[in-house]
Amino acid sequence: MKNLVFLTGAGMSAESGISTFRDSGGLWEQYPVEAVASIQGYERNPQLVQNFYNQRRAQLSSVHPNEGHRLVASLQDQYHVTVVTQNVDDLHERAGSRNIIHLHGELMKATSSRNPNDTSCIVTLPKENPIIKMGDKAKDGSQLRPFIVWFGESVPMIEPAIAEVSKADILVVIGTSLNVYPAAGLLNFTNPHCQIYLIDPKQVPYNPTLGIHHIMKGASEGMKELCDILKKT
Ligand code: APR
Repeated sequence: MKNLVFLTGAGMSAESGISTFRDSGGLWEQYPVEAVASIQGYERNPQLVQNFYNQRRAQLSSVHPNEGHRLVASLQDQYHVTVVTQNVDDLHERAGSRNIIHLHGELMKATSSRNPNDTSCIVTLPKENPIIKMGDKAKDGSQLRPFIVWFGESVPMIEPAIAEVSKADILVVIGTSLNVYPAAGLLNFTNPHCQIYLIDPKQVPYNPTLGIHHIMKGASEGMKELCDILKKT
């Protein structure tokens, strides 16, 4: 089986009703990213940050995977698929994708504020009440915090992601502005024979020497076109 790797961003979940970050009306227009998505912001005002993620977590119960997520999962029958996602929602999981690397954490999980990557402290929040309150403790006695990689923090999952991308026969980038590193740098780890596709309705800055096939459509329509292309290869 050929290795098929997806690199997805917020645009993958846009058709499910989850705001992207940098489109007009995006999340970073409504909230100062430094205040709600950086380690400094959390240390300055942890309650504000807890509220921000509690709101985003509450929204998850009312959104569902879209056709794009479902088509990504459907390719697991013909390829060895790895989904490397910058998204913290669980829509790839809910669509049936099994091999997922979350580069920026997971909204439905919480962890230690003393050592966020201590796996013994990472817990899944209850679906019926996925709220973290100040005073809730992690296993190590520290304040429980969102299991999210904030700006200013390390991205421990980048190494396994690089390993998968470097083995990819096909890389499909969906719904990311390629603004944020190290995630955006993954494209440079593809080997020369890797076919790279980009699914995004807008132009996205990428290295022109990579020979990328840009399907200028949304995630669902773009994945339909990609599946047709893959059937012919
Ligand atoms: N289908 C596919 N792509 C879409 C759609 C759609 N329906 N709608 C918008 N897009 C594209 C936009 O054109 C844009 O290129 O999705 C991309 C969204 O870019 P961003 O909002 O920057 O999101 P992303 O690239 O995932 O951000 C990366 O930044 O703030 C951090 O941690 C956060 O993981 C996030 C990271």
